[in-house]
Amino acid sequence: MIIEPRMRGFICLTAHPVGCEQNVKNQIDYVKSKGIINGAKKVLVIGASTGFGLASRITSAFGSGASTIGVFFEKPPMEGKTASPGWYNSAAFEKFASQEGLYAKSINGDAFSNEVKQQVIDLIKQDLGQVDLVVYSLASPVRTNPNDGITYRSVLKPIGKTFTNKTVDFHTGKVSEISIEPCKEEDITNTIAVMGGEDWKMWMDALNNAGVLATNAVTVAYSYIGPEVTEAVYRKGTIGRAKDHLEATAFEITDALQAIGGKAYVSVNKALVTQASSAIPVIPLYISLLYKTMKEKGLHEGCIEQIQRLFSERLYTGNAVPTDANGRIRIDDWEMRDDVQESVSKLWEQASTETLPTIGDLAGYRLDFLQLFGFDVPNVDYLADVNEIIPIKSII
Ligand code: NAI
Ligand code: NA
Repeated sequence: MIIEPRMRGFICLTAHPVGCEQNVKNQIDYVKSKGIINGAKKVLVIGASTGFGLASRITSAFGSGASTIGVFFEKPPMEGKTASPGWYNSAAFEKFASQEGLYAKSINGDAFSNEVKQQVIDLIKQDLGQVDLVVYSLASPVRTNPNDGITYRSVLKPIGKTFTNKTVDFHTGKVSEISIEPCKEEDITNTIAVMGGEDWKMWMDALNNAGVLATNAVTVAYSYIGPEVTEAVYRKGTIGRAKDHLEATAFEITDALQAIGGKAYVSVNKALVTQASSAIPVIPLYISLLYKTMKEKGLHEGCIEQIQRLFSERLYTGNAVPTDANGRIRIDDWEMRDDVQESVSKLWEQASTETLPTIGDLAGYRLDFLQLFGFDVPNVDYLADVNEIIPIKSII
């Protein structure tokens, strides 16, 4: 079958298996080009199929020779219908890992459930004994809490007052003003229930109680801060409250892991085009201006560059892990540099439908977005007939 991108709103309904495989291969080649990282050897990645989680799995496996277990929630292919990109990414990851004799198994299911946690524990016991790194990289709009059975939905809204600012529809390039009404009180608790630290803590407690965490095990989850222009809708909005909760949970987890000398970190990462971030209003306009600025300054990074730097220059240097005053690892340091932020806020003032193609990297945004689904990837023959049904032997 010939597979083309089919857009609906902000999502793409199709994915290209060969393009996804090439993306994974490019990330592996990048990690290998940067040399060996003296990191963890047995790694669990929760949210392992796309974005920062996939980059964490690739960096662990191909930077440190780690055995990896990946957890994700992806659609397998069906006759005449492609899988979701994370499925193809994981199939490709498995193929390349097994070519190099690296252990890799995956569980496709709801990471918020008790069942998936138990499956992972059983798999660790059976195959690895213990893990020494747990990466927590879920991004989801919904979570069913297994304890109360309630399904919570997150919202992306400001708190207290209406937020009005510019935004862009990155498909059409149209810049317009958007107003987002403030959230209701329950939106805050719901968003914290989905994207806060509760499930991370449940994972770490379950793993610890089962004895599958190695001495001095480390866990890391990902957060975001960003600039003033997005503050009202991001860091000081509902999602920011969830990130505050996630960051506070790191200290609770570290306390709970005291007996095994374990440690929980939050790493603040750079704004990047992923399926999660493209759904947030205002962020795509900021990203297109940020990309333009960072590319001009030679500072641009994607997920794999960010995570390779996180592992090699923060987590596994052999020295103490550097953190900010709030105990967070900062790998958003280049994004937050004064000269970068000053440039972006100047461009923000000038941004309009007419100016954006020149002052912003709208083309780079669109390309990254298409590439998330395996399209427009160099060296892929999109006219060739492909088999969209790829069996993955190690996906449970
Ligand atoms: P993503 O959408 O690329 O990845 C999400 C992952 O979670 C996928 O592997 C998906 O399969 C998995 N997932 C979602 N729901 C699941 C469920 N119920 N059970 C099992 N797996 C599930 O997202 P991205 O951007 O990599 O986000 C990961 C983390 O990084 C999030 O905490 C996000 O807030 C954070 N972050 C993202 C930034 C960005 O600009 N994209 C910037 C800084 C932090
Ligand atoms: Na991820």
